Amino acid sequence: MSVRHFITTQDFSRAELDALLDQAAAFKREKFGSQLAGKSIALLFFNPSMRTRTSFELGTYQLGGHAIVLAPGKDAWPIEFELGAVMDGEAEEHVAEVARVLSRYVDLIGVRAFPKFRDWSEDRKDTVIRAFARYATVPVINMETITHPCQELAHVMALREHLGELRGRKYVLTWTYHPKPLNTAVANSALLIATRYGMDVTLLCPTPEYLLDEGYMQAARKNAQQNGGSLSVSHDIEDAYRGAHVVYAKSWGALPYFGRWEAEKPIREAHRHFIIDEQKMALTDDAVFSHCLPLRRNVKATDAVMDSPRCIAIDEAENRLHVQKAIMTALVTQGEN
Ligand code: CP
Repeated sequence: MSVRHFITTQDFSRAELDALLDQAAAFKREKFGSQLAGKSIALLFFNPSMRTRTSFELGTYQLGGHAIVLAPGKDAWPIEFELGAVMDGEAEEHVAEVARVLSRYVDLIGVRAFPKFRDWSEDRKDTVIRAFARYATVPVINMETITHPCQELAHVMALREHLGELRGRKYVLTWTYHPKPLNTAVANSALLIATRYGMDVTLLCPTPEYLLDEGYMQAARKNAQQNGGSLSVSHDIEDAYRGAHVVYAKSWGALPYFGRWEAEKPIREAHRHFIIDEQKMALTDDAVFSHCLPLRRNVKATDAVMDSPRCIAIDEAENRLHVQKAIMTALVTQGEN
C-alpha cells in the first residue's frame, strides 16, 4: 500500500480536513496523549523556523513520540536532488538515499524547503519535498515549501473559533510591504483554504505583477465554485477592506521578477502604504486580523493592529501545535481503519 503524505490540503477532502480540525480541537482541550508512543519524526529544516520547529518538537513529545531535528548542509550532509546528477559539487549524498535511510529509522518525515528565489519556473516544481515523497516509504509532511498547509489548518481553526461558520464571510488576503522579496507559500495557501471553506475571497495586491502563480489562482477559483464562495482580485485598498470579516496579511515577491529582485524593489518600495493600520481596519465589518508570523511591526502591520483584540495571530500560532498533532496522528494511523 502506498503511503499518504501531507503536502497540500488539496489532496484532502473537506470531510478529512474537518476531521483533522475536530481532532486538533480535542488536542487543544487535552494536551497529552499516547497517539505517537513509540513513533518518531525527522524534521528537516533547509530554512530557519521558530514556530514550526517548536510546535512539531513539542507536539511529538506531548503525544509520546520523539522528534529529531536536522539542518541539511549545516548539521547534516548537504543533499543533491537532481536525478542523474554527477555529484562533484557541494552535496555529499542524494535524496534517494536520505529519504530511504530516514524511512528505515523514523515513522514520519517533515520538510521545510523554501524556493531558491532565482527562477520561479524551477521553484514552482517543489522539487525538494516532491523528491522526499517519491523516495520515502513513510509519510512526508510539508512544513512550508511553496505552500504552507499546516499554517492553513491553524488559520482556519482560529477563524472558526472567532467567527463560527465561515461560508459567505468576506475574506481579504492583502499583500503588505517587506524590505525583502518573500515566499508566496502562505499567500498561495491562504487562497486555497479560504476558498475551500466557502468564503468570498479578495486578493488585494499593488499591481497585476503581484498576482499569485496561475496554478494556485485556478485551484482557488475551482475551490470557490465547488464550495459556494468566490475569488476576485483588487488593487484598490479601500474597496477591498470595506465590509471585510477577515483581513489576512502577507508579503511576497512579484513572480515576474524572480531572480531580478533589484528591478522589483522600486515597485515594492512604492507600496509601503499597504501596511495594515487602524484606518484600514476601520473600513471593515469589525474584521479579525491575522498573519502567519514572523511579522515586522510597523512595517507590515502597526502596533495598534497587532495589539488589538481583533488580532488573532497568536491564536493561529498556538493552533499550529494542535493541528500538527492531528496531522501526525492521522498519518501514523493511516490504513488502520
Ligand atoms: N509561521 C511559521 O511557519 O513560522 P516559523 O517560520 O517561525 O516556523
